[in-house]
Amino acid sequence: MTTFPGWIARETPDGHRTTLEELDSGILDDGDTTLRVHYSSLNYKDALALHGRPGVVRRRPLVVGIDVTGEVVASRHPRWRSGDLVTLNGAGLGEERHGGLAGLAAVDGEHLVPVPDRFTPARTAAIGTAGFTAALSLLALERQGLTPAHGPVLVTGAGGGVGSVAVALLADSGYEVIAVTGRPDSLHERLTTLGAAHIVDRSELDTGGKPLAKQRWAGVVDAVGGPVLAGALAGLRHSGTATTCGLAASAAFPGNVMPFILRGVSLLGIDSVRTPHDRREAAWQLLARHLDPDLLDTVTRHVPLTAAQDAADDALAGHGTGRTVVDVRAH
Ligand SMILES: NC(=O)c1ccc[n+]([C@@H]2O[C@H](COP(=O)([O-])OP(=O)(O)OC[C@H]3O[C@@H](n4cnc5c(N)ncnc54)[C@H](OP(=O)(O)O)[C@@H]3O)[C@@H](O)[C@H]2O)c1
Repeated sequence: MTTFPGWIARETPDGHRTTLEELDSGILDDGDTTLRVHYSSLNYKDALALHGRPGVVRRRPLVVGIDVTGEVVASRHPRWRSGDLVTLNGAGLGEERHGGLAGLAAVDGEHLVPVPDRFTPARTAAIGTAGFTAALSLLALERQGLTPAHGPVLVTGAGGGVGSVAVALLADSGYEVIAVTGRPDSLHERLTTLGAAHIVDRSELDTGGKPLAKQRWAGVVDAVGGPVLAGALAGLRHSGTATTCGLAASAAFPGNVMPFILRGVSLLGIDSVRTPHDRREAAWQLLARHLDPDLLDTVTRHVPLTAAQDAADDALAGHGTGRTVVDVRAH
């Protein structure tokens, strides 16, 4: 038996609590591949799980953390050897299976992706589920036929993890990016550096309930939901496409069918957790081609494992900024 530190969600007499404990390797799930975790990251879901909030953790006790980047210690899967550097986003980690905010993890090798040559393990963790989801969103838009020639793409929640990576990926792929944020003044320089051509205050997307507005953008990457998504659809050009992956503002969809039936727009759902392997690889290849590691560094901060819970406060307060890497070996 080996012991290792990890953030674990437990049922307590007064509710749900997540605490940093010394864990025993006997706790690990069945999985054909054991990883020594080097890095995890903080996504919105991790913030909820670390603070005992509902909606993410499906069983207790459960090691939290939906991302893992590390080194294969042992594997029965034919693709992996001891010492390989790999990453995994979602696939039930930190929700149904013990997750990545701990020193060891046991996972299914079929979901793993190698750490791309272009990125260090720390940068791969910086991308994490948020960046992976931004890539899945762009792939979905392009499967629907979107190209830079069709017009600008709107990114909501641009200051957050999904939004920041989406802005950088789209800009490097040749798109004119309109970044929507609740913090247009304080994030102006950061979003411009990432490649945003225009920065829009999210209040401008409020159409006052009108289902249709001036047709301004050809695509949308939305991570916030609620009235912002409805406003984004109202301004989508004829035959345009939007993706929806998140609910940072609200799970409600106070929209209207008019953009769909009068402008032929499409709304595509994105689920990073159950992404099939070929699509995982395609998303990581897109990231390796179009995400500049130096730009990624401009929106990344690093915290040790012990500081993960405190570092998650910002996301819960609605002003998560960029990406947070958790160095699991530093504690
Ligand atoms: N479907 C999937 O597979 C998948 C994968 C990854 C993430 N997600 C979801 O996507 C969402 C974003 O994740 P994330 O990691 O990017 O979170 P994050 O880093 O916390 O960023 C969320 C951003 O949303 C904006 N926002 C917050 N409150 C808002 C409000 N009331 N109204 C409008 N905008 C608001 C803020 O950006 P500004 O200040 O710039 O406006 C914030 O930085 C979460 O709901 C997450 O669970 C889903």
